[in-house]
Amino acid sequence: MNRILVTGGAGFIGSNFVRLVLAEQQDCFIVNVDKLTYAGNLENLEGFLDNKNHIFVKADICDGKTIEQLIDKYQIETIINFAAESHVDRSIQEPKVFIETNVTGTLTLLEAARDKKIARFIQISTDEVYGELGPTGKFTEQTPLSPNSPYSASKTAADLLVKAFGHTWGLQFNITRCSNNYGPYQFPEKMIPLMINNALNDKPLPVYGDGLNVRDWIHVEDHCRAIWKVLTDAKPGEIFNIGSSNEKTNLEVVKTILDAVGKPHSLITFVKDRPGHDRRYAIDSTKINTQLGWKAETNFQEGIKRTIEWYLQNKKWLAGVTSGQYQKYYQQMYSNR
Ligand code: NAD
Ligand code: TYD
Repeated sequence: MNRILVTGGAGFIGSNFVRLVLAEQQDCFIVNVDKLTYAGNLENLEGFLDNKNHIFVKADICDGKTIEQLIDKYQIETIINFAAESHVDRSIQEPKVFIETNVTGTLTLLEAARDKKIARFIQISTDEVYGELGPTGKFTEQTPLSPNSPYSASKTAADLLVKAFGHTWGLQFNITRCSNNYGPYQFPEKMIPLMINNALNDKPLPVYGDGLNVRDWIHVEDHCRAIWKVLTDAKPGEIFNIGSSNEKTNLEVVKTILDAVGKPHSLITFVKDRPGHDRRYAIDSTKINTQLGWKAETNFQEGIKRTIEWYLQNKKWLAGVTSGQYQKYYQQMYSNR
């Protein structure tokens, strides 16, 4: 039995990961620790909340005592750290909580992992630690770390702490750096679900700047399968980029969404750019392709179609996460743009 403590498992990628593992692996027990911030939602655990191989615990990753108690109680062997403040725009508004969760939280988990002799620590990082690219080239694992936003700076600090624990105390770790994810259960502060939600409600689609910034999109299920591959097959101490070679400008993505839901391109509204907006991300996944035999399976056209269908079929979920606080957030972020 593989006994795993997953953090942030009520968020977008974490919940997709736990769902996939419970569906496909019979010999896994998952302790799912999440603070349930605005981005964490028990509705994301639909279908597996009561699974006998899963237990949900509401806790903060900065609470070392609780983490250590959980490790002991459930004889945890592996920690996979998804928990984070994850939205760049929020990190520009209020950076402090990004340092608390992404840096201090990761440090707290690392101390617990070291003291409790955890067999493997997997840090879910991001390609944003590499900064931005010009019109050509791709991020490899050798690209120098050069984060530009408070979000990516906090994730970089966490990566460096993970490496330092490996070097200093021999902690067995892996770090994964994935590109932009899309798929079911993504909170509609991120571009794709935000644009889908606005299109469904005939609201303007706020495209930052000239709309020509490029992101390298990967379906969340492909990302989750890559993480599983790293957990089972990677040598400790290795870092892997994860991507799907799906570079698109934001304008292309937004037009694809409007066409798919049958709404006019006139809903596109160019708004003031994000400060320090990274121009282009693109991932070179050669290392994970060749060393672990993983490659992304979902092409973007098919993946985005399935994703839009999911949001159409889950209007109740969407209405739930876009009520109350979200309306305030939207006002604050977009009313003066
Ligand atoms: P998310 O914001 O949807 O989910 C984050 C989860 O962490 C939420 O459930 C939240 O409640 C929980 N959380 C936040 N602070 C916590 C704390 N102090 N203690 C315990 N739980 C806490 O984020 P996501 O998009 O699912 O991203 C998951 C991870 O993947 C993050 O580490 C992120 O940096 C990384 N990542 C995301 C993307 C992407 O495109 N979304 C791409 C690459 C890497
Ligand atoms: P986002 O989903 O926030 O991810 P990240 O900034 O981590 O890449 O944004 C994806 C791209 O979409 C990014 O270039 C910013 C842009 N964007 C908009 O144009 N409008 C929006 O309302 C949002 C949220 C993002």
